[in-house]
Amino acid sequence: MAVDVLIGLQWGDEGKGKVVDYLAGRYDIICRFQGGPNAGHTIYTVKGKFVLHTIPSGIFRSNTQNVIGNGVVIDPITLKKEILGLKEMGVDATANLLVSKKAHLILPSHRYLDVASEISKGKKKIGSTLRGIGPTYMDKTGRNGLRFGDINSAEFKKKYQELKNKHLQLGEMYGDVPFEWNDEEWFESIEFLKSLETVSCEYYLNKALKAGKTILAEGAQGVMLDIDFGTYPYVTSSNTITAGICTGLGVAPTQIGEVIGISKAYCTRVGGGPFPTELFDDNGKKLQDLGHEFGATTGRPRRCGWLDLVQLKYSVMINGVTQIALTKSDIMDHFEEITIADEYEVNGYKTQELPFDLCDENYKVSLKSFKGWNTDLSAIKKEGKALPQEFETYVAFLESSLEVSIPMISIGPGRDELILRQTS
Ligand code: GDP
Ligand code: IMO
Ligand code: MG
Repeated sequence: MAVDVLIGLQWGDEGKGKVVDYLAGRYDIICRFQGGPNAGHTIYTVKGKFVLHTIPSGIFRSNTQNVIGNGVVIDPITLKKEILGLKEMGVDATANLLVSKKAHLILPSHRYLDVASEISKGKKKIGSTLRGIGPTYMDKTGRNGLRFGDINSAEFKKKYQELKNKHLQLGEMYGDVPFEWNDEEWFESIEFLKSLETVSCEYYLNKALKAGKTILAEGAQGVMLDIDFGTYPYVTSSNTITAGICTGLGVAPTQIGEVIGISKAYCTRVGGGPFPTELFDDNGKKLQDLGHEFGATTGRPRRCGWLDLVQLKYSVMINGVTQIALTKSDIMDHFEEITIADEYEVNGYKTQELPFDLCDENYKVSLKSFKGWNTDLSAIKKEGKALPQEFETYVAFLESSLEVSIPMISIGPGRDELILRQTS
């Protein structure tokens, strides 16, 4: 058996949660391998909408085990709230949730440093979700961090205070930082989380693979927010790509199976940083309105733009994508013309490769338009009719350019609002 992977191919919010929730019925185990509560994965259940930040999106299936891997950073307050929120919906998350002892903890003082760092950057701020993600990964690589497996240690409070003191000293460099401390709530949440089952996820998952269990690794954020390959420095602080699974879960590269890439039929980005196909016109506003493009974690409006084929090719290459799910295709039902970027011009030369630094604006994108299908794809599905020719032409072009098949077309936020296409 192998670990299948599901990752966002753009700047996050591609609809990963929705697709994982749909696919979860096929898997025994769903794992998060990186990121933390900067993620917001929206799922519509019969009981309503729920946004997951730390818990994998398999939690709504009673037969699925969910694992928070070692590569994830955990804010105890958010995780407790998530578990209680699920309980209110009648889902006992604690029954099928395992947490890696090696996952690092986000302290209130990590969030404090995040706020301080963003303020100090002024106009050049990253647009972080301010969840303490960057400072926590800095402490992890700086070999200072506290891990979930430490919470029962007699030294825990002492280690916490030492790390907090270090952060406060660092903070002095920034001057006054507006911040509400909530250490008490943090420790209360830690107490609450002590009842969760912990694992060494590298042993747990490798044994599960040997026993023939099916596993899906659920990415957070997207390729263009990857710390190495994203639009640096406007990125998050983890490896969001397929390679992150090996370090974030403890499985070998030879154990990777299918790589399912999730792409919207257009692009969005929340926060700062370059966005080559961003639209500032009526079409951008239309995408934002029809797509309800507001962040699931911070509620900030998402910037919108056309699909970027050069960027997608890059994502497919880095991740070894074997199939794509095209989400929010229903939003394109309302466009007479559908536009995509199919080439870049860098310093006067046409290219299919992304330039080194997308922040350096020495490039242009060339656009290509397709006739829109102007048809309600949900009605097509309901009536069991064939997909419109214009739609097939558009998807066939994407498939041949990307050299990857697109068997899943998502046409709404609900679990079954999906069209499955026959692909060769
Ligand atoms: P994630 O972070 O990748 O899981 O995505 P988010 O949950 O942050 O954002 C995706 C948004 O689009 C959510 O509100 C989903 O409910 C919604 N969504 C997902 N797929 C579709 C789709 O195919 N069509 C429409 N209209 N909405 C979708
Ligand atoms: P999901 O999993 C969209 C963005 C932030 C900011 C940058 C760095 O829901 O797709 P950070 O908080 O990590 O320091 O922020 O990354 N960002 C996301 N954008 N979806 C996400 O997650 C994101 N997680 C972080 O807006 O620009
Ligand atoms: Mg999201």
